[in-house]
Amino acid sequence: MSGVKRVNGVDLHWLEAGSGDPVLFLHGFPFDARMWSGQLSTLPGGWRGIAPDLRGFGESGGAGEPLTLDLLAADVAALLDALETGTAVVCGLSMGGYVAFALWRRRPELFRALVLADTRAEGDDEEGRRNRARLAETVAAEGSGAAVDAMLPKLLAMTARPEAIERVETMIRSTPPETIIAALTALAERPDSTPLLGEVTVPTLVIAGAEDAMTGPETARALAAAISGARLEIIPGAGHLPNLERPEAFDRVLGGFLRSLDE
Ligand code: MLT
Repeated sequence: MSGVKRVNGVDLHWLEAGSGDPVLFLHGFPFDARMWSGQLSTLPGGWRGIAPDLRGFGESGGAGEPLTLDLLAADVAALLDALETGTAVVCGLSMGGYVAFALWRRRPELFRALVLADTRAEGDDEEGRRNRARLAETVAAEGSGAAVDAMLPKLLAMTARPEAIERVETMIRSTPPETIIAALTALAERPDSTPLLGEVTVPTLVIAGAEDAMTGPETARALAAAISGARLEIIPGAGHLPNLERPEAFDRVLGGFLRSLDE
């Protein structure tokens, strides 16, 4: 099932499945809500999965507008308010994790629990910012396909299934170039969220693909160590997108965490 609501000045589209306590799924860059369709269909009973297309991405409006992670967080907070969900388990992968941090900064009372997959709390360094500026120039000149060439080799484990590769490629190609460019600026300018980690008081699960070349097990270990009581799970045979690459393992870990919240 899916829906569209005008919130915070934008038409926000989301995918949804199940009923019960909400789990908010926040997608990575430059993907969309479809990256969570496997998780939506396998959520344990008693949970309602809500996966928005962030502003400018997927079927949401706002392509071509300037983006900040704070704006993306304000959008999803407004969506949760409009859907009257109350608190939610917030699950963000990579850029989705940065949005989760921005949401915590604004509205910590919305969180029932936190899942951080293949993400980091630190902001970009100088080299990272330069790389983003270069990619923005290439995408401006050549279109979204240039982001496939630049990113795909770093995203997936060597053993990635053709089906996962195809899904990732389809999502990147369908992301408007102006969204990719605006998001690259937002990513480069995001604040350091490290100071927040000591404030996180809700149950937290940190996940990383064992072969993630961008935010791998070392980053995940440090992230989990900085959040009181956080659980850490490393998914073998997966790169930066373990929910697509090793969905059975990812769903087992996520399902176990959700069930532990009811104990
Ligand atoms: C993502 O998957 O969301 C990106 O790798 C985030 C980033 O480039 O920092």
